[in-house]
Amino acid sequence: MGKPWKTIILAGGTGSRLYPLTHAVNKHLLPIYDKPMIYYPLSIMMLVGMRDFVLISSPDALPQLQRLLGDGSQWGVQFTYRAQERPGGIAQCFEIAADDIEGANVALILGDNIFYGSGLPEHISAAITYDGATIFGYEVANPSAFGVVTLDADDRPLALVEKPETPQSNLAVPGLYFYDDQVLEIARTLTPSARGELEITDVNKAYLAMGKLNVSRLNRGTAWLDGGSHSALYEAGQFIKVVEERTGLKIACPEEIAYRKGFISKPEFMALVDDGLDTEYQAYLRRIAREIG
Ligand code: DAU
Repeated sequence: MGKPWKTIILAGGTGSRLYPLTHAVNKHLLPIYDKPMIYYPLSIMMLVGMRDFVLISSPDALPQLQRLLGDGSQWGVQFTYRAQERPGGIAQCFEIAADDIEGANVALILGDNIFYGSGLPEHISAAITYDGATIFGYEVANPSAFGVVTLDADDRPLALVEKPETPQSNLAVPGLYFYDDQVLEIARTLTPSARGELEITDVNKAYLAMGKLNVSRLNRGTAWLDGGSHSALYEAGQFIKVVEERTGLKIACPEEIAYRKGFISKPEFMALVDDGLDTEYQAYLRRIAREIG
């Protein structure tokens, strides 16, 4: 076992591809069907067992995120909030959270990434290494839109390229990364790319150069979606709606996850269930309370 994990959820950026939706509202507060977008990356990390989170967003959005999520104690987790003054790239998050992540292993999930699939939390937990870095590979039809990894015949990484014009493989790298405690030091050596950003792909390339990059394939039974464009947002909402209506179960309900994972006790869960609201969401929580007992 390694050091404790800190999990960064990166929820800043300009959301410019979603304008005008994002003119007054931060992208990660927009709905994916019946929940705010940020519930989805938060939930998958809770399912993996993470409990100590650093939430990074723009100074404008932080108070709203705080109103939505509080200090985390209601769900048996902890949220620390940090501001990204200007979007300078994904890898900027390590410096912003430097005081919080010092000496810890660091998980990072992008606030607009949605993961869903049978056995996925177990797959992710099993893939995490405590020495070096773990990233994932997911086959997509349009690799040019993502960071792309090329693997050899034994699934060892050969190369990483951010948004290649002519991709050498169909394996995109989702916005879910696990690093050992060297990541801050590595991030501090980065310089901005041609698009002016500190690139997460450059962090991964540094681990690759050290022979310490582990790539785990997410199989086709896993859904990896994002809410970064109008169609992606719309399709992700439809996907969640279809699965939730078919199964009668909610995807990414933090209250339910906290209770099922044992992060909160029965009385604590019941306090969330009986908070005086009479909404469809509350009715669902009441049902879960009856079923789990
Ligand atoms: O979604 C996975 C992809 O995410 C990876 O395959 C790429 O390697 C990685 O660079 C990233 O690509 P995107 O172009 O999709 O990143 P985007 O700029 O859209 O930002 C992703 C999320 O991170 C989004 O929720 C906003 C947040 N963000 C981004 C930047 C650049 C910040 O909070 N601050 C930032 O400075």
